[in-house]
Amino acid sequence: MPKKFKILFATSNQNKIKEARAVLEPLGYSIQQLLIQGSPPDFIEPQTEDIERISKSKVDQSLEMISGTEFSDFSILVEDSGLFINDLGGFPGVYSSYVQKTIGNHGITKILEGNNNRQAEYRAYSILYQDGKYFNSLGICSGEISTEIRGSHGFGFDPIFIPDSGDGRTFGEMSQLEKDSKSHRGKSLRILYDELRGPSE
Ligand code: IMP
Repeated sequence: MPKKFKILFATSNQNKIKEARAVLEPLGYSIQQLLIQGSPPDFIEPQTEDIERISKSKVDQSLEMISGTEFSDFSILVEDSGLFINDLGGFPGVYSSYVQKTIGNHGITKILEGNNNRQAEYRAYSILYQDGKYFNSLGICSGEISTEIRGSHGFGFDPIFIPDSGDGRTFGEMSQLEKDSKSHRGKSLRILYDELRGPSE
């Protein structure tokens, strides 16, 4: 396999790696986690709420880290994602990971208690660096926040997120395959794949 089809995914989130493998490996890519001396890299996060700037900065930091190593011709993938709740002005957005770790799904359902406007969306912004070029994509999955926690599949907010394109079940109640076919991450990675292939005749 040419090195450019080998993707180093710069993330510490094993769930993201599992989902990226499920989408991209059948398309001919291999995905491995970017590890520096055995650990996921510590990125300096720019102080901005611009998800695109955060991801681009992580790609550039990754490129510096692998320059001159056996991985220097590999492609780099970075993905930043989050849950944006309409009635909360997009909260938790870029703070999703922190909010999930602190107040979690119970906290979010509590904040929305009695609120009928439960519209939300997941967003995944991916950047893939390959052969000196940056490819980027935004995948959005619209849905709503359930009133109770349901299901044990997926991760993070999945047990409280009901995608509009489903049948009323939360992502937590769906199989991995079902989630990937509808999710922000699945969409974002498939858009990337189409961009990499270029226009078809
Ligand atoms: P980050 O992109 O690593 O900053 O973190 C994204 C955070 O958003 C995760 O830690 C989750 O809390 C949340 N998130 C993003 N995508 C998903 C998903 O597919 N399911 C559940 N939670 C998600």
